[in-house]
Amino acid sequence: MSAAPTAPLLRIVDVGKVYPPNVRALNGITLDIRAGEVTALLGANGAGKSTLARILTGVERPTSGTLHLDGRPIELADTRDAHRHGIACIYQELPLLPNLSAAENITLGHTGRPFLGLWSPQPSRRVYAELAKEIPDAPPPDVLVGQLSVAQRQKVAFIRALAAHPRLLIVDEGTSSLSLSERQEMQSLLRSLAHARGIAVIYITHFIDDALSCSDRIVALLDGKLALDRPSADTARADVLHILGGGAAAATARAEAAARVKPVERKTAGSGAGLTVTNLACSGVAPLSFSTGVGECLGLYGPPGCGATEALRAVAGLSPHSGRVDWNGEVLPSAMAQRVLRNVVYCNGDRAKNLILSWTVAGNINLLYLFRQALLSIPSAAAARARAADVVSRFAIKGTPNEAIRNLSGGNQQRVAVARTVSLGLPLLLIGDDLTRGVDIVGRSHIHGLLRAAAGQGAAILLYSSDPEEIANLCDRVLVLRDGHIVDVMRRPNISVPSLEAAVQVGRRAHA
Ligand SMILES: Nc1ncnc2c1ncn2[C@@H]1O[C@H](COP(=O)(O)OP(=O)(O)OP(=O)(O)O)[C@@H](O)[C@H]1O
Ligand SMILES: [Mg+2]
Repeated sequence: MSAAPTAPLLRIVDVGKVYPPNVRALNGITLDIRAGEVTALLGANGAGKSTLARILTGVERPTSGTLHLDGRPIELADTRDAHRHGIACIYQELPLLPNLSAAENITLGHTGRPFLGLWSPQPSRRVYAELAKEIPDAPPPDVLVGQLSVAQRQKVAFIRALAAHPRLLIVDEGTSSLSLSERQEMQSLLRSLAHARGIAVIYITHFIDDALSCSDRIVALLDGKLALDRPSADTARADVLHILGGGAAAATARAEAAARVKPVERKTAGSGAGLTVTNLACSGVAPLSFSTGVGECLGLYGPPGCGATEALRAVAGLSPHSGRVDWNGEVLPSAMAQRVLRNVVYCNGDRAKNLILSWTVAGNINLLYLFRQALLSIPSAAAARARAADVVSRFAIKGTPNEAIRNLSGGNQQRVAVARTVSLGLPLLLIGDDLTRGVDIVGRSHIHGLLRAAAGQGAAILLYSSDPEEIANLCDRVLVLRDGHIVDVMRRPNISVPSLEAAVQVGRRAHA
């Protein structure tokens, strides 16, 4: 299936990147990228994948090394240079404008053309509609991007990248929020872009099985260095795992230490403890009733548009809803702030919205904690500093409390988003919506361990994940949703990736 070896489209020679004061994000990377091939680029959080993507798209300059396109050296001074050379990227952080429509976002800056002296938006709509046919369930052209979920925004970003007719397409975790079947459809699109149209594709993902099945070649980075560059057909899962687990021994030790965290006063046990949702209804959600006890992890799962995200946001008080939400025997007030004061907290994978990127790591970690503490007592700056340092170490966050969070890699930012909720102490209702998006495989199992430990100590966990493996790993019980209705209930030990997928397919067939 892989193309016969040809001269590389792009040659990366001895490329290094040092961020001040002395973070060596990339170190002597030499790599050939070929047209007609999908190259999967793997590596733990902070390994340097996005840094390489930013260098190849002219967002950043390398500190050392050179790039050669079609055998000739090139300098990428800015993103326009990369665009001119036919290099497009779907960035991890989806820089789309929320107040523009999906179609307008694909031709930012040069949308439309004059017709009888009037501006006409048709070209961007037409191009969008044409390309959207290739993307499963793409959002309609006129919908505002600010109203879309992360998964839908990823699809708009795909269409925008394809509209540039790239020779090299870089997908930096552009499938991380998609459902399993959507991920598979996008991968077959990537394969056909490479094999049928001769595009060179670099596919950055944390899903090892996706990388192995979709790519022609596997490249892995370890601490900024090239650790593996081999045809996928000759690469075993264990080879990749070994590299991704570079710091695994240390991470496991930290996870074990975290699992021994002292339970904060356990006031929640007893009758009435836990969450009871009665006739919860909001846009996209039919009246839903369910409950979950402390110590339980309850999952919501279903196909895109099933209503899980809307239901979670309503329980967190983030969106208007009707019905009643009881937590530990008390009817919750509707405002989100009032719910946070009762340790009913929401965390999702949309970190651009959840984190204050101009703040430090410590500031973001302490945000919820200080919000709550400020109303109970005068918070101590020293205690907040100590708390941030403790959370950074327990959650194996690659970064320091005092640095700007925007300097952390995407997966490490997400660890901060999860850590600040799990570390609030008990009682705790943690509402998670794709909360490990972008976290590497070791970090994921580390966070799963911390969530299980929190549940074991008396937290209640309610979560949705686009990844059925995460649901199967974590949940004691799963409500399968379709069109805002509960269509099935599954219990451990009957929760597995195949059984979850089968439940969703049955729902789809019944719906068809
Ligand atoms: N602007 C910056 N200033 C300082 N350090 C930075 C900056 N950008 C990235 N880094 C550091 O460079 C290293 C590599 O980051 P990069 O974002 O490339 O990792 P990644 O492999 O994409 O990780 P992830 O899987 O979490 O997205 C990290 O240690 C990160 O903290
Ligand atoms: Mg990254």
